[in-house]
Amino acid sequence: MMPLPFQKLRNRLKRKLWGSSLSAVPAPFRASAVRDGSLAAEIMTYEKSAGAAHAAGALPLRTLLLIEKLLPAGEIVSAETGCGKSTIFFSRIAAKHKTFCLDDRDLGSASSVGYFMDCPATRSNVVETIFGPTQLTLPAYAEHAPYDVVLIDGPHGFPFPELEYYYLYPYLKPGALLVVDDIHIPTIGRLADFIAEDSMFEMIEIADATAIFRRTDAPVFDPLGDGWWLQDFNRRRVDFSREVQLRDGNRREPITFEGRF
Ligand SMILES: C[S@@+](CC[C@H](N)C(=O)[O-])C[C@H]1O[C@@H](n2cnc3c(N)ncnc32)[C@H](O)[C@@H]1O
Repeated sequence: MMPLPFQKLRNRLKRKLWGSSLSAVPAPFRASAVRDGSLAAEIMTYEKSAGAAHAAGALPLRTLLLIEKLLPAGEIVSAETGCGKSTIFFSRIAAKHKTFCLDDRDLGSASSVGYFMDCPATRSNVVETIFGPTQLTLPAYAEHAPYDVVLIDGPHGFPFPELEYYYLYPYLKPGALLVVDDIHIPTIGRLADFIAEDSMFEMIEIADATAIFRRTDAPVFDPLGDGWWLQDFNRRRVDFSREVQLRDGNRREPITFEGRF
């Protein structure tokens, strides 16, 4: 195996290449959206005037094109936390798109909301914007449609992406995509590791720092129950044969969840 410093260098190079503008690729070899032939070119044009990203950092166009390629066929309903270039993209490939984001328009030209709202390629009539911290808006929101794709890319501190996952996973249709960005952040990487092992998902791609999962047809994990012992990430790591330490200092036989559930 390659020594670690070389691996890191290679990964950094790959990331740089993946994030570099598509316009650097000769036109005949450029990827384009399956559902909308002019979308990639329109975003590339916008990137030239508005910059490739707003202050909070945007997904590379390559990643958005990859997500689109992996989407189930037919009409798409989508949702994301955070907003920006991805919102422009979803507004064009979805029949309905919801973005749960902060209103950062006070940032002027650095604003992620301004980035998609000012873009001529955005179909604003398709986008429903739910402004406010997702920590407050998601628990209060009652109009989730079953989604074909959900992107988690809002607040990145622990446990906020987990919280967003909690409020959104029950609404993913079988076959839908769940996209988790910035898995290089350790706590988000751990969330992606958990999802990768869960029966509700199959991991299909890692593009740079973005993980793409597909919802299987496993039943929705009860969001109001417990059931940690049913989750593969836990089952594979917990020692079910360990005795249980009681408060009075005694020990009890191991719990056998297998028999009970
Ligand atoms: C990394 S950017 C999203 C980039 C976007 N996906 C794109 O492709 O351009 C993070 C976004 O999350 C928003 N955000 C940060 N904290 C938030 C919070 N607590 N609730 C909702 N949105 C938040 C930021 O304002 C920003 O729009």
